[in-house]
Amino acid sequence: MSSKDQKVSVSTFEKEVYEGLTAFPKYLSSKYFYDEIGDKLFQQIMALPEYYLTRAEYEIFQTHQSDIIKSFDTAKEGFDLIELGAGDGKKTKVLLQELLNQQYDFAYNPIDISQNAIDGLVRNLSLEMPEIVVEGQIGEYFEVLDRLKHISDRKKVIMVLGSNIGNLLHPRAIQFLEKLGNAMHSGDLVFMGFDQKKHPQKILDAYNDKSGVTAAFNKNVLTRINKELGGNFDLDKFMHWETYDPESGTAKSYLISTEKQTVAINSLSLEIHFEAWESMHTEISQKYDDDTVKWLAEEAGLEIVKSFTDSNKDYKNYLLKKTE
Ligand code: AVJ
Repeated sequence: MSSKDQKVSVSTFEKEVYEGLTAFPKYLSSKYFYDEIGDKLFQQIMALPEYYLTRAEYEIFQTHQSDIIKSFDTAKEGFDLIELGAGDGKKTKVLLQELLNQQYDFAYNPIDISQNAIDGLVRNLSLEMPEIVVEGQIGEYFEVLDRLKHISDRKKVIMVLGSNIGNLLHPRAIQFLEKLGNAMHSGDLVFMGFDQKKHPQKILDAYNDKSGVTAAFNKNVLTRINKELGGNFDLDKFMHWETYDPESGTAKSYLISTEKQTVAINSLSLEIHFEAWESMHTEISQKYDDDTVKWLAEEAGLEIVKSFTDSNKDYKNYLLKKTE
């Protein structure tokens, strides 16, 4: 260690904010939307009339619960249901209840970065469904995946709901699926939600709601920089902007500086200049079709076994297995 970097501990947040705001064009990662306030805003987003994703996935679970759990464990040999990014578990509870009703032999392992979310979910399940064996884990997706292989030697079904994979561009989505594959034995399954391509206006509306909750959610990354890194972003001088490219299926969120301005970030000893109408890219929410999911899975050494959709065909949950 050189004397220069002695005692200087730089958090990942500081490093990534520095990198993103000194790059051209500027960007920030959507993973920083989620703190206590961000979690609450996302809860509000899921209840918005425009945000169809959560309701569509819930409808799929309600409609196909019996077929879904049958496809998890056809032989009723017993399995571990592992959920990455479990959140409040509202959708998962539909499946858990059905697994109980049909007397499947299973354990539930919710995994989330938020200690709060896991504590709440475990407590809630022990009250509502005390018969279920629940073991929560805290951690980031990629880090936790390495631990997965050793959870038990039972069959595993790994769930990733909410189209969370949509925050990743295709190359990183493939990496993510590959890592899932590496944590799986043959016979293990992935059950994953992918939001589908649809009328572009419906997608734009979902990420640009009238009440402005999504805008506040997007701007929460600036609030966090202000609070945690001593920044002085004036939130009123940035606007939320959404785009959707029907060819690539990529919805993108930006924060746009509405005037020429300079922002200081104390803990980084950094001054950032914005031209009028300069953008910061903050999030992607990828939309898919069957061919794209098939391609992503194949690139990662997986294949589609089955899929389930809602009555509008807005959203699909795919069951994937390792290609032998
Ligand atoms: C939780 C990543 C699936 O991209 O649809 C909602 C996050 N961003 N509104 C999504 C989000 C803006 C959401 N995911």
